[in-house]
Amino acid sequence: MGKGDRAVSAPFPRHIGIIMDGNGRWAKKFLLKREAGHRAGAQTLRKLVEGMNEAGFEVLTVYAFSTENWTRDDGEVAYLMGLISEYIQQYIDEADKGNGRVRVIGDRSRLSVDLQQRIAMLEQMTADKNGILLNIAINYGGRDDIVRAVRAVAADVAAGKLALGEISERHINEYIDTAPLPDPELIIRTSGEMRLSNFLLWQAAYSEFYATPILWPDFKISHLYEAIEHYNKRQRRFGGRKGS
Ligand code: IPE
Ligand code: IPE
Ligand code: MG
Repeated sequence: MGKGDRAVSAPFPRHIGIIMDGNGRWAKKFLLKREAGHRAGAQTLRKLVEGMNEAGFEVLTVYAFSTENWTRDDGEVAYLMGLISEYIQQYIDEADKGNGRVRVIGDRSRLSVDLQQRIAMLEQMTADKNGILLNIAINYGGRDDIVRAVRAVAADVAAGKLALGEISERHINEYIDTAPLPDPELIIRTSGEMRLSNFLLWQAAYSEFYATPILWPDFKISHLYEAIEHYNKRQRRFGGRKGS
């Protein structure tokens, strides 16, 4: 499928965020363990990214593990970390064949050294590709993202590079995890929940939010096109009075 075959009309969102939720409920529906839901969810992401890359999408940021997800059972946390490692490794193994780029956002210092190394390797191997950019949020929290950006700005002030009175949104934008990307125009959450759960708080200031009852493992590219159809009907006003 090429760009011209897209099922929707312009304006096309350049940056889409997805809160991949509902793996546990999907597993429950099929009387499976939560782990099976996470595995199915990881596969769903792989297929979606492949389809989006073929269709010419630019940037996808997905929420894989939040700063709050550490509070889950040790077994579930360990399984999720293992699954993330396994998928990162698969992407490494296939990196030479594909044209997709992968970046990880979030505080990776809390991840295992092995996982940190794999992430660094994958980022390096795909940095110069020209396909879709997949940002995977791992140990990511929007508040933590802002705190880390504030710290970096404060360090510039302490080093005399910046005066206190000069600090502006631009400086936070420079240090926020998704820099230098534009903010996501559209954020999708699966499984029917109507909250951000600490995802991209700074970047989501004017994102259009779309919730679908579909559980993440069942999410298909057709659902993404449905979300974009809705997005295209919205009137983004950014606080102004255009069209009203
Ligand atoms: C989303 O699925 C995956 C992660 C948060 C890691 P959940 O595990 O939250 O699934 P539900 O919400 O319990 O159905
Ligand atoms: C948000 O889902 C985090 C991810 C999808 C990685 P959660 O399932 O953790 O969020 P809550 O607990 O329903 O807010
Ligand atoms: Mg959930």
